[in-house]
Amino acid sequence: MPGKHMARRRVAILISGRGSNMAALVAAARGADYPAEIALVLSNRSDAKGLATARAAGVATAVVDHKAFGKDRVAFEAALQRELDVHRIEIVCLAGFMRLLTPDFVARWHDRMLNIHPALLPAFKGLDTHARALAAGVKIHGASVHFVVPEMDSGPIIAQGALAVRADDTAEALEARVLAIEHRLYPMALRLVAEGRVRVEEGRCLIDGARRADEVLLSPASAGLNPPQDN
Ligand code: GRF
Repeated sequence: MPGKHMARRRVAILISGRGSNMAALVAAARGADYPAEIALVLSNRSDAKGLATARAAGVATAVVDHKAFGKDRVAFEAALQRELDVHRIEIVCLAGFMRLLTPDFVARWHDRMLNIHPALLPAFKGLDTHARALAAGVKIHGASVHFVVPEMDSGPIIAQGALAVRADDTAEALEARVLAIEHRLYPMALRLVAEGRVRVEEGRCLIDGARRADEVLLSPASAGLNPPQDN
Protein backbone atom coordinates (compact mmCIF):
# COMPACT_ATOMS: atom_id res chain seq x y z
CA MET A 1 0.00 0.00 0.00
CA PRO A 2 1.33 3.47 -0.75
CA GLY A 3 2.16 5.62 2.24
CA LYS A 4 0.44 8.97 2.65
CA HIS A 5 3.50 10.75 1.29
CA MET A 6 3.90 8.51 -1.75
CA ALA A 7 3.00 10.44 -4.89
CA ARG A 8 0.11 9.05 -6.84
CA ARG A 9 0.94 7.86 -10.33
CA ARG A 10 -0.31 10.21 -13.04
CA VAL A 11 -2.58 8.32 -15.43
CA ALA A 12 -4.06 9.16 -18.85
CA ILE A 13 -7.09 7.28 -20.13
CA LEU A 14 -7.46 7.01 -23.91
CA ILE A 15 -11.02 6.67 -25.17
CA SER A 16 -12.93 6.73 -28.46
CA GLY A 17 -16.52 6.47 -27.27
CA ARG A 18 -18.82 6.02 -24.30
CA GLY A 19 -16.13 5.93 -21.65
CA SER A 20 -17.86 3.87 -18.99
CA ASN A 21 -14.58 2.18 -18.02
CA MET A 22 -12.96 5.60 -17.89
CA ALA A 23 -15.72 6.76 -15.53
CA ALA A 24 -15.14 3.72 -13.31
CA LEU A 25 -11.43 4.52 -13.12
CA VAL A 26 -12.14 8.19 -12.35
CA ALA A 27 -14.52 7.14 -9.56
CA ALA A 28 -12.00 4.69 -8.10
CA ALA A 29 -9.23 7.28 -8.20
CA ARG A 30 -11.30 9.53 -5.94
CA GLY A 31 -10.61 7.07 -3.12
CA ALA A 32 -8.22 8.55 -0.56
CA ASP A 33 -5.88 5.56 -0.67
CA TYR A 34 -6.00 4.98 -4.42
CA PRO A 35 -2.43 5.01 -5.77
CA ALA A 36 -3.23 6.75 -9.09
CA GLU A 37 -4.83 9.99 -10.19
CA ILE A 38 -6.52 10.47 -13.54
CA ALA A 39 -4.61 13.43 -14.89
CA LEU A 40 -5.95 13.35 -18.45
CA VAL A 41 -8.67 11.83 -20.60
CA LEU A 42 -7.54 11.84 -24.21
CA SER A 43 -9.70 10.98 -27.21
CA ASN A 44 -9.10 10.59 -30.93
CA ARG A 45 -12.70 11.72 -31.53
CA SER A 46 -14.10 15.08 -30.50
CA ASP A 47 -17.59 13.54 -30.36
CA ALA A 48 -16.66 10.79 -27.88
CA LYS A 49 -19.40 10.76 -25.26
CA GLY A 50 -16.89 10.05 -22.52
CA LEU A 51 -15.30 13.49 -22.96
CA ALA A 52 -18.35 15.21 -21.47
CA THR A 53 -18.41 12.68 -18.63
CA ALA A 54 -14.75 13.39 -17.87
CA ARG A 55 -15.24 17.17 -17.97
CA ALA A 56 -18.25 16.90 -15.67
CA ALA A 57 -16.04 14.98 -13.25
CA GLY A 58 -13.47 17.78 -13.36
CA VAL A 59 -10.85 15.78 -15.25
CA ALA A 60 -8.65 17.48 -17.88
CA THR A 61 -9.47 16.37 -21.42
CA ALA A 62 -7.79 16.65 -24.80
CA VAL A 63 -8.62 15.58 -28.35
CA VAL A 64 -6.12 14.48 -30.98
CA ASP A 65 -8.25 13.79 -34.06
CA HIS A 66 -6.66 10.97 -36.02
CA LYS A 67 -8.40 12.13 -39.21
CA ALA A 68 -6.30 15.29 -39.22
CA PHE A 69 -3.22 13.11 -39.78
CA GLY A 70 -4.56 11.00 -42.66
CA LYS A 71 -2.54 7.78 -42.84
CA ASP A 72 0.39 9.26 -40.92
CA ARG A 73 0.17 7.22 -37.73
CA VAL A 74 3.59 8.37 -36.57
CA ALA A 75 2.51 12.02 -36.66
CA PHE A 76 -0.77 11.14 -34.90
CA GLU A 77 1.12 9.34 -32.16
CA ALA A 78 3.62 12.19 -31.84
CA ALA A 79 0.64 14.45 -31.13
CA LEU A 80 -0.70 11.96 -28.58
CA GLN A 81 2.73 11.79 -26.95
CA ARG A 82 2.90 15.59 -26.72
CA GLU A 83 -0.33 15.61 -24.72
CA LEU A 84 0.97 12.83 -22.48
CA ASP A 85 4.19 14.80 -21.92
CA VAL A 86 2.37 18.05 -21.17
CA HIS A 87 0.38 16.27 -18.48
CA ARG A 88 3.44 14.39 -17.16
CA ILE A 89 1.72 11.03 -17.63
CA GLU A 90 3.33 7.92 -16.16
CA ILE A 91 0.75 5.22 -16.98
CA VAL A 92 -1.65 4.98 -19.95
CA CYS A 93 -4.96 3.12 -19.79
CA LEU A 94 -6.68 2.27 -23.07
CA ALA A 95 -10.42 2.09 -22.48
CA GLY A 96 -12.38 1.56 -25.68
CA PHE A 97 -9.66 3.34 -27.69
CA MET A 98 -10.29 2.23 -31.27
CA ARG A 99 -6.96 2.99 -32.96
CA LEU A 100 -4.13 0.53 -33.45
CA LEU A 101 -0.84 1.82 -32.11
CA THR A 102 2.53 1.39 -33.82
CA PRO A 103 5.21 -0.85 -32.28
CA ASP A 104 7.35 2.24 -31.59
CA PHE A 105 4.62 3.93 -29.55
CA VAL A 106 3.86 0.67 -27.74
CA ALA A 107 7.57 0.20 -26.97
CA ARG A 108 7.77 3.68 -25.50
CA TRP A 109 5.02 2.71 -23.03
CA HIS A 110 6.32 -0.81 -22.43
CA ASP A 111 4.74 -2.25 -19.27
CA ARG A 112 3.17 1.15 -18.58
CA MET A 113 0.19 0.89 -20.95
CA LEU A 114 -2.87 -1.19 -20.03
CA ASN A 115 -5.89 -2.26 -22.04
CA ILE A 116 -9.20 -3.85 -21.10
CA HIS A 117 -10.67 -6.49 -23.38
CA PRO A 118 -14.17 -7.96 -23.03
CA ALA A 119 -13.21 -11.65 -23.05
CA LEU A 120 -11.07 -14.10 -21.13
CA LEU A 121 -7.86 -13.78 -23.11
CA PRO A 122 -6.30 -15.44 -24.97
CA ALA A 123 -9.76 -16.49 -26.15
CA PHE A 124 -11.78 -14.17 -28.38
CA LYS A 125 -9.31 -11.47 -29.34
CA GLY A 126 -10.77 -8.78 -31.59
CA LEU A 127 -14.35 -7.56 -31.92
CA ASP A 128 -17.80 -9.06 -31.24
CA THR A 129 -16.46 -11.09 -28.35
CA HIS A 130 -19.82 -11.77 -26.70
CA ALA A 131 -21.54 -13.10 -29.82
CA ARG A 132 -18.49 -15.23 -30.55
CA ALA A 133 -18.42 -16.60 -27.00
CA LEU A 134 -22.09 -17.56 -27.31
CA ALA A 135 -21.52 -19.18 -30.72
CA ALA A 136 -18.62 -21.18 -29.30
CA GLY A 137 -20.78 -22.40 -26.44
CA VAL A 138 -18.28 -21.49 -23.73
CA LYS A 139 -19.67 -21.83 -20.23
CA ILE A 140 -17.46 -19.18 -18.72
CA HIS A 141 -16.71 -15.74 -20.14
CA GLY A 142 -15.49 -12.41 -18.86
CA ALA A 143 -12.95 -9.63 -19.22
CA SER A 144 -9.18 -9.19 -19.03
CA VAL A 145 -6.83 -6.30 -18.28
CA HIS A 146 -3.42 -6.73 -19.88
CA PHE A 147 -0.30 -4.81 -20.77
CA VAL A 148 -0.28 -3.65 -24.36
CA VAL A 149 2.13 -5.22 -26.85
CA PRO A 150 2.21 -4.56 -30.60
CA GLU A 151 0.00 -7.56 -31.36
CA MET A 152 -3.66 -6.70 -30.69
CA ASP A 153 -5.28 -8.02 -27.49
CA SER A 154 -2.15 -9.88 -26.53
CA GLY A 155 0.37 -9.07 -23.85
CA PRO A 156 0.80 -10.14 -20.24
CA ILE A 157 -2.49 -10.54 -18.39
CA ILE A 158 -2.73 -8.50 -15.17
CA ALA A 159 -6.21 -9.45 -13.93
CA GLN A 160 -9.33 -11.23 -15.15
CA GLY A 161 -12.99 -11.29 -14.24
CA ALA A 162 -15.23 -14.24 -15.06
CA LEU A 163 -18.91 -15.07 -15.10
CA ALA A 164 -21.06 -18.03 -15.95
CA VAL A 165 -22.74 -18.00 -19.36
CA ARG A 166 -26.46 -18.73 -19.08
CA ALA A 167 -28.30 -21.01 -21.49
CA ASP A 168 -30.67 -18.20 -22.51
CA ASP A 169 -28.02 -15.47 -22.76
CA THR A 170 -28.00 -13.01 -25.63
CA ALA A 171 -24.91 -11.07 -26.72
CA GLU A 172 -26.49 -7.93 -25.23
CA ALA A 173 -27.20 -9.55 -21.88
CA LEU A 174 -23.69 -10.97 -21.72
CA GLU A 175 -22.20 -7.63 -22.67
CA ALA A 176 -24.02 -5.90 -19.84
CA ARG A 177 -22.86 -8.41 -17.23
CA VAL A 178 -19.29 -8.39 -18.53
CA LEU A 179 -19.28 -4.58 -18.51
CA ALA A 180 -20.26 -4.58 -14.84
CA ILE A 181 -17.26 -6.80 -14.19
CA GLU A 182 -15.00 -4.55 -16.30
CA HIS A 183 -15.93 -1.58 -14.12
CA ARG A 184 -14.59 -3.40 -11.06
CA LEU A 185 -11.69 -5.13 -12.77
CA TYR A 186 -9.95 -2.14 -14.36
CA PRO A 187 -9.63 -0.19 -11.08
CA MET A 188 -8.25 -3.35 -9.41
CA ALA A 189 -5.65 -3.86 -12.13
CA LEU A 190 -4.60 -0.21 -12.29
CA ARG A 191 -4.19 -0.22 -8.51
CA LEU A 192 -1.74 -3.13 -8.72
CA VAL A 193 0.28 -1.47 -11.49
CA ALA A 194 0.31 1.95 -9.80
CA GLU A 195 1.47 0.34 -6.56
CA GLY A 196 4.40 -1.08 -8.51
CA ARG A 197 3.40 -4.63 -7.63
CA VAL A 198 3.22 -6.06 -11.14
CA ARG A 199 6.38 -7.61 -12.58
CA VAL A 200 6.53 -9.10 -16.04
CA GLU A 201 8.65 -12.21 -16.36
CA GLU A 202 8.74 -14.29 -19.52
CA GLY A 203 5.54 -12.72 -20.76
CA ARG A 204 3.58 -13.37 -17.57
CA CYS A 205 2.58 -10.94 -14.85
CA LEU A 206 3.69 -11.80 -11.35
CA ILE A 207 2.01 -9.84 -8.57
CA ASP A 208 4.25 -8.97 -5.65
CA GLY A 209 2.74 -9.74 -2.29
CA ALA A 210 -0.55 -11.08 -3.69
CA ARG A 211 -2.06 -12.79 -0.70
CA ARG A 212 -5.41 -13.63 -2.19
CA ALA A 213 -6.41 -14.78 -5.63
CA ASP A 214 -9.17 -12.18 -5.63
CA GLU A 215 -6.59 -9.42 -6.01
CA VAL A 216 -6.24 -10.47 -9.64
CA LEU A 217 -9.43 -12.44 -10.21
CA LEU A 218 -13.09 -11.64 -10.05
CA SER A 219 -14.69 -15.07 -10.14
CA PRO A 220 -18.40 -15.82 -10.47
CA ALA A 221 -18.70 -16.04 -6.68
CA SER A 222 -16.58 -13.01 -5.81
CA ALA A 223 -18.11 -10.94 -8.60
CA GLY A 224 -21.42 -11.30 -6.81
CA LEU A 225 -23.20 -11.41 -10.13
CA ASN A 226 -24.20 -15.05 -10.21
CA PRO A 227 -26.45 -16.85 -7.77
CA PRO A 228 -24.51 -18.67 -5.05
CA GLN A 229 -24.12 -22.43 -5.38
CA ASP A 230 -26.20 -24.40 -2.91
CA ASN A 231 -23.96 -26.76 -1.01
C1 GRF B 1 -15.42 -2.16 -23.31
O1 GRF B 1 -16.22 -3.29 -23.50
C2 GRF B 1 -13.98 -2.54 -23.33
O2 GRF B 1 -13.72 -3.80 -22.80
C3 GRF B 1 -13.66 -2.54 -24.80
O3 GRF B 1 -14.39 -1.46 -25.33
C4 GRF B 1 -15.52 -1.21 -24.49
C5 GRF B 1 -15.44 0.22 -24.09
O4 GRF B 1 -16.58 0.63 -23.37
N1 GRF B 1 -12.25 -2.44 -25.01
P1 GRF B 1 -16.55 2.01 -22.60
O5 GRF B 1 -16.21 3.08 -23.61
O6 GRF B 1 -15.51 1.90 -21.53
O7 GRF B 1 -17.93 2.20 -22.04
